[in-house]
Amino acid sequence: MHNETVGTVLITQEQINEKAAEIGRQIEEDFKGEPVVLVGILRGAVLWMADIMKNVNLDMVIDFMSVSSYGASTKSSGIVKIIKDLDTDIEGKNVIIVEDIVDSGRTLSYLKSYFENRDAKTVKICTLLDKPEGRKVEIDVDYIGFTVDDIFIVGYGLDYDQKYRNLPYISYLEE
Ligand code: IMP
Ligand code: MG
Repeated sequence: MHNETVGTVLITQEQINEKAAEIGRQIEEDFKGEPVVLVGILRGAVLWMADIMKNVNLDMVIDFMSVSSYGASTKSSGIVKIIKDLDTDIEGKNVIIVEDIVDSGRTLSYLKSYFENRDAKTVKICTLLDKPEGRKVEIDVDYIGFTVDDIFIVGYGLDYDQKYRNLPYISYLEE
């Protein structure tokens, strides 16, 4: 894809705001006043992470991890590599992984067991987008913003070759 162009708006900032408020309330109900550790997955989850954290009124610590599974390609390689690890000890903690999109499920399935092996009390997943048609490994996703078709999404944190993360809405690439 060399002369890629961005398509029309699929999901607006307003729709994302409403969804974040809804999921925030759900998280508050589920954890009933218990403290949580929100782990944002860099770089795609930054905007969604900000939306979720300000909508969750619980005792909270935030941290970030950076993992890579894609190069400058639109297909998953299946390899998960940790670029930046957590700075927080999560033993005995309620961890909520905040991710931009679940596609094959490989990244989150890896991260989920990674946190479970570090003896987190609970590990939940909160994703802005879910692309169920791309699934290669089974994974339980606890909080889903929006379900999308099997197209290449950009905007609101999601990139193509590091571009388009700054679009304040969700769109897709036209070939
Ligand atoms: P998975 O391991 O295949 O589930 O891939 C998850 C990661 O792949 C996400 O965190 C994104 O970085 C990237 N990804 C998957 N689908 C898309 C897409 O449609 N647009 C942009 N990035 C994507
Ligand atoms: Mg990502």
